[in-house]
Amino acid sequence: MELFLFIYLLMPTTSDLIAHTDLLTGVQALEKKIGHTPLHHITRLFQKKNVQIYAKKEWMQLSGSVKARAAYNIIRKAIEQGDLSRQRTLLDATSGNTGIAYAHIASLLNIPVALCLPENASKERKEILQSLGVRLILTSRFEGTDGAQQVARALAEDDPETYFYADQYKNENNWKAHYHTTAPEIFGELPGITHFVAGLGTTGTFIGTGRRLRELKPSVQLISLQPDFALHGLEGWKHLETAIVPEIYDPAVADANYEVSTEEAHDMIKAAYRLEGLRLSPSSAANLAGAIKIAEQLEEGTLVTVLPDNADKYSEITQKLI
Ligand SMILES: Cc1ncc(COP(=O)(O)O)c(C=O)c1O
Repeated sequence: MELFLFIYLLMPTTSDLIAHTDLLTGVQALEKKIGHTPLHHITRLFQKKNVQIYAKKEWMQLSGSVKARAAYNIIRKAIEQGDLSRQRTLLDATSGNTGIAYAHIASLLNIPVALCLPENASKERKEILQSLGVRLILTSRFEGTDGAQQVARALAEDDPETYFYADQYKNENNWKAHYHTTAPEIFGELPGITHFVAGLGTTGTFIGTGRRLRELKPSVQLISLQPDFALHGLEGWKHLETAIVPEIYDPAVADANYEVSTEEAHDMIKAAYRLEGLRLSPSSAANLAGAIKIAEQLEEGTLVTVLPDNADKYSEITQKLI
């Protein structure tokens, strides 16, 4: 009798099931707002016979950055598996685009969000996140994003009932988002692609897009980009030699790795605005600078890169340049 009562108490109630179905319908309806971004053909910054560069304008989707893809897939899979509900808080460590993407998507679904971020994150970032209803957990400025990750992990371990720890650096649904959306979008428009070029942050964009492109077209060259040293100004990028390497990173995916300096990215912010009318963030400009470096060495080819976000959130840097 006691066992029956125990099993009965564990069974979801009708209202739990209705709430889950409602959340599933809500998250599925958001799919059309994620991805489907346009390609920009670079025609003035770079010109060479038989060599073309295309850049995917990733800010043209919900929340204004490439991270909408990973955040959406992480949230959707967690809801589908019953790990995330309106009674559980989405928790991660991020002050950047992933946090903004979680906040946008979760606020449309009425899911609470808590983010751990270093206390010295910009006032602009904190205000954006708070205006979207995020609970901010400020961590030591001396320990950066690695310290914020440790605090998030400890919170989730202490209270697993309250929190769903998304852990974008470890979560397979990060790179899978790009495997299932970014790569097929690129290949669908440009089946003649010869090179894919992208910078490494959590590494989800490069690993997921690269893996799928390689299956669709085995001859494609996959080229990852990194900052030239540890103290760089390319927000969103990691210098893997000196940082904690994300668990989703797979060094076997890249055919080659190139470095891009912060100065090269700043020069590209100016040039891309003047010649292509693109207002780029530092990491978008760095991707374009990397793609041009590679294109200059080729006799023929079709290169594709991504522009993770535009200049909107980087006024301290870009107002001096454009
Ligand atoms: C501005 C910006 N650029 C590049 C990246 C790198 O993308 P990924 O994390 O998929 O490697 C990020 C990731 O947060 C980003 O915010």
